[in-house]
Amino acid sequence: MFKLTNKSVVITGGGSGIGRAMSILFAQQGAIVHIIELNNKAATDTVAEIEAANGKATGYACDVSDQQQVVDTFTGIGKIDILINNAGIAHIGRADTTSTADFEKVFNVNVKGAYNCLYAVIPVLKANGGGVILNTASIAASVGITDRFAYSMSKGAIHAMTLSVARDYLHDNIRCNCISPARIHTPFVDGFIAKNYAGQEAEIFEKLSKSQPIGRMGKSEEVAALALYLCSDEAGFITGTDYPIDGGFITLNN
Ligand SMILES: NC(=O)c1ccc[n+]([C@@H]2O[C@H](COP(=O)([O-])OP(=O)(O)OC[C@H]3O[C@@H](n4cnc5c(N)ncnc54)[C@H](O)[C@@H]3O)[C@@H](O)[C@H]2O)c1
Repeated sequence: MFKLTNKSVVITGGGSGIGRAMSILFAQQGAIVHIIELNNKAATDTVAEIEAANGKATGYACDVSDQQQVVDTFTGIGKIDILINNAGIAHIGRADTTSTADFEKVFNVNVKGAYNCLYAVIPVLKANGGGVILNTASIAASVGITDRFAYSMSKGAIHAMTLSVARDYLHDNIRCNCISPARIHTPFVDGFIAKNYAGQEAEIFEKLSKSQPIGRMGKSEEVAALALYLCSDEAGFITGTDYPIDGGFITLNN
């Protein structure tokens, strides 16, 4: 089960954290992995790790918020069976403390970046007879999280985008779902703790871990395993659905 032999898979932000774990797992399952990354070194390092384990992967330096770069990169890749829109950035702030520049940056990467990849991949999937799209939302799309104004809205847009795409391409044999992780321990989390809570890193890490009812942060590998299932043929009956992976955050936090 869950074999992806010779499936061509594009993973945005596949050089770090959750995307890196997905790239490694999908390659282990036989996929030809294409990592789209702003951080070229992260892509190169992940590709080297996959190749050392006899997997197949290529890295592409590309900013998902730039439509021309995305179209050129996808054209260079050619055949694609699966797209995972995973690249995303964090932002801490409320409506009255979020600058226009930060608001636009979050939307340009998290929302427009995902749209740009859909714009480039859907004609390829249609020509191929179908495919799978997996978007990365967040629990911030469905519960109010303190100080995450722009970020939460961007993830709400990803959820709505997922429903729209699932509906529009039902008859093109394209399935589209999203996942909603709670806190997962990745460089993304370490980075924003360091940036926003300097000097209180250990205390904030503990607080964020305990905000999951299960008592810890998730692991990137746990998210990658859910992604593998949703992108596999075994999940052929699943489309237009959001999957929380949250240690009980949405339903057990009372
Ligand atoms: N870690 C969490 O707690 C958590 C929770 C919920 C949702 N998410 C979402 O999961 C996704 C991955 O998060 P992560 O924690 O693995 O993050 P991460 O920062 O470890 O990795 C994200 C990768 O995306 C790349 N990236 C950023 N902007 C890009 C751009 N414009 N073009 C191409 N690549 C770009 C970065 O270089 C980085 O390698 C994000 O969409 C994030 O919002 C994370």
